[in-house]
Amino acid sequence: MKRAGADDPETRRTDPLVRLSLDRLRRRTSMKWRAHPEDVLPLWVAEMDVPLAPPVADALHAAIDLGDTGYPYGTGYAEALADFARARWRWDGLRVEHTAVVPDVMMGIVEVLRLITDPGDAVVVCSPVYPPFYAFVTHDARTIVEARLGPDLRIDLGALEEAFARARRQGRRAAFLMSNPHNPTGVVHTREELQAVARLAREHGVRVVSDEIHGPLVLPGAAFTPFLSVQGSENGFAVTSASKAWNLAGLKAALVVAGADSAGDLRRMPEEVGHGPSHLGVIAHTAAFREGGTWLDELLLGLDANRALLGRLIAEHLPRARHRPPEGTYLAWIDCAWLGLHDDRRSSEPGVVGDLAGPAKMFLDRARVALSSGHVFGSGGAGCVRLNFATSPAVLREALARMGRAVREL
Ligand SMILES: Cc1ncc(COP(=O)(O)O)c(C=O)c1O
Repeated sequence: MKRAGADDPETRRTDPLVRLSLDRLRRRTSMKWRAHPEDVLPLWVAEMDVPLAPPVADALHAAIDLGDTGYPYGTGYAEALADFARARWRWDGLRVEHTAVVPDVMMGIVEVLRLITDPGDAVVVCSPVYPPFYAFVTHDARTIVEARLGPDLRIDLGALEEAFARARRQGRRAAFLMSNPHNPTGVVHTREELQAVARLAREHGVRVVSDEIHGPLVLPGAAFTPFLSVQGSENGFAVTSASKAWNLAGLKAALVVAGADSAGDLRRMPEEVGHGPSHLGVIAHTAAFREGGTWLDELLLGLDANRALLGRLIAEHLPRARHRPPEGTYLAWIDCAWLGLHDDRRSSEPGVVGDLAGPAKMFLDRARVALSSGHVFGSGGAGCVRLNFATSPAVLREALARMGRAVREL
């Protein structure tokens, strides 16, 4: 894929990230735009500042015009994902008969964990990680075992192996809930890393559940590997949807994909789980995977340009912050430990998405920029903030300038 700079007119001409004014965005009623007063720039929750991709909007308009608002039916969504996976990731192994439509990715994960673990069993996560991994798993009476990411923010296979052993104590069943790519660091796991994960999981009798919601959002320089495409993953699961890449969180529908040796488990998923997704959601997600490729490429160019811009803005306004440019997602993980504002004890209470502490609280109070607070991402998160850069370059410039000013005035 070609690459372009933040101000390159060719990139920005087709970039969905520069289409909407702040005034227009503020008319939205979703969480991103309603959780804070108007003087706050919201760069926290994973919603994007883009118009709907035209093929998705067309499919929804057509459904509304037809009054096609009944119950979802059929395998069109899974077929669209299978074709997308074949074309984009060169993966031919997605079997439509080994899939199930579920309300959303997190509910799909919970339902899969119910199939392969019992209450009281452990679920391993690589912290810091997407906060609902903690909240949903513990709400369903499973316990969390953390395997900290390495200093390079990649999976630490030694820590993972130790966590697997701890999770399997007394012969209990256990699962590894993996974010592939990883939210919040934007790390895209390589095929070799995923193969090592699959091998370790097999050795320890741990089942892998791979959350691949950010899979389509891999930026130039990295390549996405579906977990179920690696050797040894046959008893694993993937859960995904078009929600992050095409901004469809309000249109509920996701897919569980079972590996060849997990298909029997998936058949035990209760029929009523499939009553949760919305028909309009299925229509929208299907259109995104089937016809949204060109729009996605335009988005990825814009995100790549924003990633570079953000790196420059951090160097200019927060020169003491530590930041590794993400390989995928539209999330940037910024280590603000030098500010000394965080309390490490808070990292023992992860999971509550809107909970603020440390640098994120300071940036909201003093810069009027809303970021996600690192401590809710689990061990290793305190002192960091997560910034959503799926917005216009103008908003990014303003946000970083405000953050820099706030730090200088501390
Ligand atoms: C890694 C990850 N999984 C799941 C979700 C939520 O997906 P859903 O709304 O389909 O449950 C998100 C949302 O940001 C996410 O980043």
